[in-house]
This record gives sequence, structure tokens and C-alpha cells, in this order.
Amino acid sequence: MAPLRQTLCVFTTFAVCALSVACGSAASSTNGPADSGDSSATLADGAGSDAAKAIDAAQAASPTEYIATLSDFDCIKNGTKVGHFFVANRLGRQDEAVAVAKANTKGSVYPLGTVIRLFPLEAMVKRGKGFEATGGWEMFKLTTSGGQLSIAQRGGAEVTNGSGPCVGCHNPAKDYDFVCSTDHGCAAIPATDELITLLQDSDPLCTP
Ligand code: HEC
Repeated sequence: MAPLRQTLCVFTTFAVCALSVACGSAASSTNGPADSGDSSATLADGAGSDAAKAIDAAQAASPTEYIATLSDFDCIKNGTKVGHFFVANRLGRQDEAVAVAKANTKGSVYPLGTVIRLFPLEAMVKRGKGFEATGGWEMFKLTTSGGQLSIAQRGGAEVTNGSGPCVGCHNPAKDYDFVCSTDHGCAAIPATDELITLLQDSDPLCTP
């Protein structure tokens, strides 16, 4: 067990240290978008009229944007495991999200509100509006300190981990909605299958 633990620590420390050194100062400025996207605010004019109510209902039924907050990043295993990664959908479209992952078909697209994680403290979230360049995905680098989860970085092409920019690696998998899996053309990550499983089993967001 000791060597595995050691590998785990080295790996996570590497990622977290590289991140805080390289990106510490940029982190706070990338936290902004979450506060700015309340689409319901645009419905204030004429609220209460039948037309406004109809628009409201249509938006609720078919939102164009899902803005993740900290509570979206719970125990990775609350999602459904497909291949190496876990899938969860926050807008009631879990079956659809899992079906897309399982089908693994060129051209298929994950529904809005989908959260995908390979490592507990990294995520891609189908945010939609404003993230067209990355297929609607917002990338997240999370961090824990003293048991408290926080968002170290969020955004598009500017988000990085210890191996480089997330989107730089995920871009070749564009035709698979930016999901790399094992055979969608992405540069390999420095983690064996065993290490991936170990990190998932050690998710600090899962209560033992
Ligand atoms: C060095 C290239 C590289 C970088 C940088 C990278 N990834 Fe990945 N990512 C991959 C590869 C390759 C896989 C598939 C690994 C596997 O399944 O064994 C993957 C898998 C994933 C998955 C599971 C879904 C999928 O695409 O298979 C998520 C979620 C993810 N990465 C998010 C991120 C986030 C967020 C960042 C940045 C903080 C990031 N990645 C940075 C290459 C990279």
C-alpha cells in the first residue's frame, strides 16, 4: 500500500503545486462568471404578464445555461461511472447524459448541466451559453484546504492543471464533445488506470 499512497501524494501534490505556482494569481479573476449569469434577471421587465410567464416557463423547460456552484461538486461516486469517468446531470437529464457517454458516438453531444469528472478535483460542466468555443463546457480546477472545497480556476481555454491547459488536451476530441476517453486523440495523461481508480476511491468529497 505504501508505494501506491506515495504515488498518489506525489501526483496530487504535483498537480496542486504546479497549479498554485503557475496560476495562483489568475485564480480569483476566473471565479467571476458564476455571479454574472443569472438569466432570470432579464425577465424582470413585464414580469407577471402572460407573455413573460410563457417565456419564463419556456426557459425553465429549456434553459440555455447552467452555471455550476460549489454544491455541484459532491462525492464523485454519486455520479454514474462510464469507462474511466463519472457522469452526473444537474437538470434531470441523467439518463440522457449516461446514454451519450455509453454510446461514445462521434457527433453526439452531452445535455446541458452535465458534470463529468475523472479526478475528484477536476471537472468539466456543460454550461452552454458563452462557452461555444469549448462545446459549451466550462472547465474546473477545484482545491480543498482544511476540509473546505473551493474553486481554484474555472473558465474556458485559460484553465490549466499540472500537465497544461485542459482544453489544449481535450480539443482533439472535439468530435466526441471534448471527451477524451482512451481513444479520441488526446495527449495521454500521466496516470495509470490503477492511479485513476485510487484517486477516485480517495475522493476527499466522499465521506468514509
Ligand atoms: C495532458 C493532457 C490533458 C490535460 C492537460 C487535461 N486533460 Fe482531461 N483528460 C485527458 C485524457 C487523455 C483523458 C482520458 C483519460 C482516460 O480515460 O484514461 C482525460 C479525461 C478527462 C475527463 C473525463 C472525460 C474524458 O474526457 O475522458 C475530465 C472530466 C477531464 N479530463 C477534465 C480535465 C480538466 C478540467 C482539465 C484541466 C484542469 C484537464 N482535463 C486537463 C487529457 C488531459
